[in-house]
Amino acid sequence: MFNKLKRWKPQNSSSSLRDRIESVKKAGVPSHIAIIMDGNGRWAKKRAMPRVAGHHEGMKVVRKITRLANELGIGALTLYAFSTENWKRPKMEVDYLMQLPEEFLGSFLPELIEENVRVEMMGYQENLPVHTLRAINKASEETKNNTGLVLNFALNYGSRAEILDAVRHVLKDCQSGIMDANSLNEEAFSSYLMSSKLADPDLLIRTSGEIRLSNFMLWQLAYTEFWFTDVLWPDFNEEHLLNAVETFQNRQRRFGGIQGS
Ligand code: FPP
Repeated sequence: MFNKLKRWKPQNSSSSLRDRIESVKKAGVPSHIAIIMDGNGRWAKKRAMPRVAGHHEGMKVVRKITRLANELGIGALTLYAFSTENWKRPKMEVDYLMQLPEEFLGSFLPELIEENVRVEMMGYQENLPVHTLRAINKASEETKNNTGLVLNFALNYGSRAEILDAVRHVLKDCQSGIMDANSLNEEAFSSYLMSSKLADPDLLIRTSGEIRLSNFMLWQLAYTEFWFTDVLWPDFNEEHLLNAVETFQNRQRRFGGIQGS
């Protein structure tokens, strides 16, 4: 029991970090956090290392942040790991990114299982290498009954394509009589998206100083709070996640209404 707890607490956590974690938990955490993990390439370049070294370091940060998200009691963590546009990168980099899920899950899956984390994937499966898909499917299958944090990888994901596919699907269902066009509302449309099983993100984090959405969850982020940082993803740590959540806790979400309404 002691070992289990020790492993899952943010590693090397100081007592001040632990205190902060406890007070963040008490103040109420977002149900769903989405992260655009950006800046791996620049992190590597600054160190005269190949870009893939940045991705590898970024993978280690995914572990750290998953542990803390689970510890905080966050319901879902969606990570933008590969976009439908990322295929434009050099083949060597794409190949490297496509083996990361295997490497990550190969060593981390037992811990995810033990800690009640459910692994999911959101994205187009058809173009993914068999080995990548196999690793993700194995993790999803082995964690499907877990009820803790949902660790949702956006892999080969693109929001415009997702929305167009949803529209096509709605049209088909209207033609075949499964759906009545007049009853199509936001909730019904959301059920046609790849994120249908998850609530919309409450908080979006993007690292590396870029202030854009890059085709990520365009429908789902309509009322999400955004938090941007100049920190490059491989340098992102527990303190940064706590900063983001604390900022979120101090925001007033009005969803188009007025305060107190
Ligand atoms: C963007 O940074 C990052 C990516 C396209 C890949 C993100 C992937 C990881 C962080 C690892 C994922 C881990 C698992 C387990 C799947 P960039 O390369 O565009 O950075 P740059 O803008 O500095 O070039």
